[in-house]
Amino acid sequence: MKHFIKFESKELGQELIDLALVYKANPRLDLAKGQGKRVGCIFLNPSLRTRVSTQIAAQNLGMEAIVLNMDKEGWALEMKEGAIMNKGTVEHIKDAAGVLGSYFDILAIRAFPSLTNREEDVNDFVFGQFVKYSGKPVVSLESAVRHPLQSLADQITIQEFAEGKRKPKVVLTWAPHIKAIPHAVANSFSEWTLGMGHDLTITYPEGYELDEAFTKGASLEYNQSKALEDADFVYVKNWSSFNDYGKILSTDHSWMLTEKHLKKAKEAKVMHCLPVRRNLELSDEILDGARSLVQKQAENRIYAAQAVIGKLLG
Ligand code: CP
Repeated sequence: MKHFIKFESKELGQELIDLALVYKANPRLDLAKGQGKRVGCIFLNPSLRTRVSTQIAAQNLGMEAIVLNMDKEGWALEMKEGAIMNKGTVEHIKDAAGVLGSYFDILAIRAFPSLTNREEDVNDFVFGQFVKYSGKPVVSLESAVRHPLQSLADQITIQEFAEGKRKPKVVLTWAPHIKAIPHAVANSFSEWTLGMGHDLTITYPEGYELDEAFTKGASLEYNQSKALEDADFVYVKNWSSFNDYGKILSTDHSWMLTEKHLKKAKEAKVMHCLPVRRNLELSDEILDGARSLVQKQAENRIYAAQAVIGKLLG
């Protein structure tokens, strides 16, 4: 594994899940592994879980983690090749990424999409520039199209709560939101869930089809109530339209998951990556009830990051 940017194979996915569970049982097991090494956690966007869990993971491996909130504390970055920098940008990504590469053993980057330029976002342009110019192993802390550390934590959580079921029914359901939200969590969850061999149904209102590069093999369903029948895991997430790129086409409140929605999925566990807008995306009764796995997922973010960094350290 050279970088950690996307789902690569079921074998590697399972290896990382197993390693994460070893670290969860004994977080300081490999305290010597990262001695004398540094990870740079570079944020171009806000974060709570990703920022803190990655730092804890690095510390559990004896590694130093340095966080740079580049959007607030760094120079304004120019991304375009050949740009004449006579406007607001101060430093070119080529120079910044090269410098960061020389300071760190591993770089971890968060770079959200613009949601205005689909081609640039789909090609993960900003993230790709860091990979291209840093020359170091790169861990995605969420790119324009994927959030693999979240997805690894989600798969760890599914394995822990699947109660021996080899092919649980997993449903990814769209939820309402008032802001245009990226596709990264939904894309990545779909990619990993299918990659790990689970039975995945994705349900959303018409117009919210995800990029099919991530959903091939899933059952796609406009009828939420039909999709939720007999679900073992229900993953709740908003995303904006992909076809009408970055647009909000619906805020239909009836899509917000409540106990009533789960009458035909009595045992279903409910997941969300957080942060969640309560009683807009997901009801209090679900979030505060026995079905909710959201805190477990957030805790598993530490061990997902620890497994990935540990594997990259070799
Ligand atoms: N789930 C997640 O990535 O949370 P943060 O945006 O707070 O890091």
